[in-house]
Amino acid sequence: MSARERVEQFWVDRGLPRAVDIVLSDRIVGGWRAAAIGAARGTVLELGFGSGRNLRFYGDDVSEVLAIDPSDVAWRLAQSDIARFGRPVTRVGDDAALIDLPDNSVDTVVATWTLCSIPDIESALTEARRVLRPDGRFRLVEHSLSPKQSVRRFQRAAQPVWGRVSGGCHIDRDMVALLAGAGFDTSTLDARDAFRVPPVQPWSWFVSGAAGLR
Ligand SMILES: C[S@@+](CC[C@H](N)C(=O)[O-])C[C@H]1O[C@@H](n2cnc3c(N)ncnc32)[C@H](O)[C@@H]1O
Repeated sequence: MSARERVEQFWVDRGLPRAVDIVLSDRIVGGWRAAAIGAARGTVLELGFGSGRNLRFYGDDVSEVLAIDPSDVAWRLAQSDIARFGRPVTRVGDDAALIDLPDNSVDTVVATWTLCSIPDIESALTEARRVLRPDGRFRLVEHSLSPKQSVRRFQRAAQPVWGRVSGGCHIDRDMVALLAGAGFDTSTLDARDAFRVPPVQPWSWFVSGAAGLR
């Protein structure tokens, strides 16, 4: 491994989980979390659990949270929120593309700003569909490929460099198309620009809401 690769790896393993924890902790982000996951219920499976920032937005209808995330640093950061949560939170895996849970075993799947980072996104969505009960909901808020041609062009051109500094985040994924391709009913999802500020447009086309199974 070259010196540059070692620095990049160190950033992705150690620095990035802390940076994400800070960037995704403000009040505006909290509003998106509350809207997307506030109605979660029963057994919740969180893809990309990160530092546990969603825990404080779950209501009393959530009985337990099953967490999948490869980052040990983020899992350590989550411990105080897990202790406060007062219900079981269990780390059940490190890759959403391979979920070690039975078919039809969870009531809610949650993903917040995570579907962009999972390398094998098609397998992860197929797995999410498999473990979700027929009446379950996939609750999410994710940034997605923009419908604006100029922004899409930038997203596709910038992806190779952005992917390296962001630990594999994709700004060029069409989340609605991916979810529909995996068998989710996307007609209930909302898509809009979260921040109408030109410099953040490549990250600000948000897809959010709850999708059932088709
Ligand atoms: C931008 S962070 C979002 C974290 C958290 N969902 C939140 O809202 O604060 C993306 C998360 O996806 C996780 N991740 C990356 N690859 C993954 C995979 N294959 N399976 C599950 N999670 C993954 C990362 O470790 C990181 O914690």
